[in-house]
Amino acid sequence: MPTKLYSSIFPSIFFLSLIFLFLYSTFLPLYTNNDSSSLPTNKFLPSSSPPCNLFKGHWVLNSTKGKPFYDDTCPFHRNAWNCLKNKRDNMGIINSWKWVPKDCKLERVDPWRFLGLMRNRNIGFVGDSLNENFLVSFLCILRVADEGAKKWKKKGAWRGAYFPKYNVTVAYHRAVLLAKYKWNPKQSVVSDEDELKGIYRVDVDILADEWSSIADFYHVLVFNTGHWWGYDKFPKETPLVFYRHGRPISPPLGLLDGFKVVLEDMVHHIQKEVPKNTLKFWRLQSPRHFYGGDWNQNGSCLFDRPLEEEQQQWSE
Ligand SMILES: *[C@@H]1O[C@H](CO)[C@@H](O)[C@H](O)[C@H]1NC(C)=O
Ligand SMILES: *[C@@H]1O[C@H](CO)[C@@H](O)[C@H](O)[C@H]1NC(C)=O
Ligand SMILES: *[C@@H]1O[C@H](CO)[C@@H](O)[C@H](O)[C@H]1NC(C)=O
Repeated sequence: MPTKLYSSIFPSIFFLSLIFLFLYSTFLPLYTNNDSSSLPTNKFLPSSSPPCNLFKGHWVLNSTKGKPFYDDTCPFHRNAWNCLKNKRDNMGIINSWKWVPKDCKLERVDPWRFLGLMRNRNIGFVGDSLNENFLVSFLCILRVADEGAKKWKKKGAWRGAYFPKYNVTVAYHRAVLLAKYKWNPKQSVVSDEDELKGIYRVDVDILADEWSSIADFYHVLVFNTGHWWGYDKFPKETPLVFYRHGRPISPPLGLLDGFKVVLEDMVHHIQKEVPKNTLKFWRLQSPRHFYGGDWNQNGSCLFDRPLEEEQQQWSE
């Protein structure tokens, strides 16, 4: 059921990314402290600020909201995902949407100010392509304030950038399930009647290698997982099988129960092992990009406007 739900909903990843950009630029500076390299975690807003929920609001179509920060020449794009270069339809309209929070003013992100406040600090993203998409957009915007930005791929990062003017690193660690998982092809040829080709072993209590040793490097970490927990990624011929303490969990967990167990384990790990001063975000889910089929089944991205408040999915 979630698979069906995900595969038929609107591509608002882009818009959600914008919200997050605004969030970072608005809130991160409030955590920063010029005298110390650690980020205070015990306060969210200074007491003088009125409470403001940036997530409450609506989208406004405004074609004069200003030139985008970057174009298709930004070097941090992943080519196949470069909507600008690949001439996705309706980019003009898509770029004209603006998020307007209900009770507060949301300024445009300011990459100079942001990097200035983050000087000597590092920001890491861990998770699936939702975080990767956000990262790319983020890097392209930050680069406006430091054209000397260089690609950065150390410590297991999938992609990222170093901003020399500010000594800031921002990178993404690809760990689509967060937990470690590995393909195990079917060993026995005895029962070749069934369709099983092998399994993906998921160790619910072990972090994926890509982020197992990064906690001390980053001052801010943004986690997510979600879009891979579906039968489109792991059909019954190649299912996920969950392990704990090196043994299969018994009775075996279904996909969504496994998802829940992995989330609990990962959150527990993050709370226990990632340093207290690290500012941690958990990013929630968004609808998928595809309409009329998945990415490899003639699906396409036809939409150019955000979901309505009560709308859960587009009907096919
Ligand atoms: C559109 O954006 C411009 C520039 O930010 C602003 O001056 C104008 O008031 C906006 N219009 C609407 C309808 O929000
Ligand atoms: C750059 O930032 C790191 C912390 O992320 C710090 O350890 C290092 O000393 C900084 N380098 C310079 C040249 O300030
Ligand atoms: C995709 O569309 C083409 C042309 O309409 C068709 O031949 C093909 O079978 C479709 N593929 C899938 C997976 O639906």
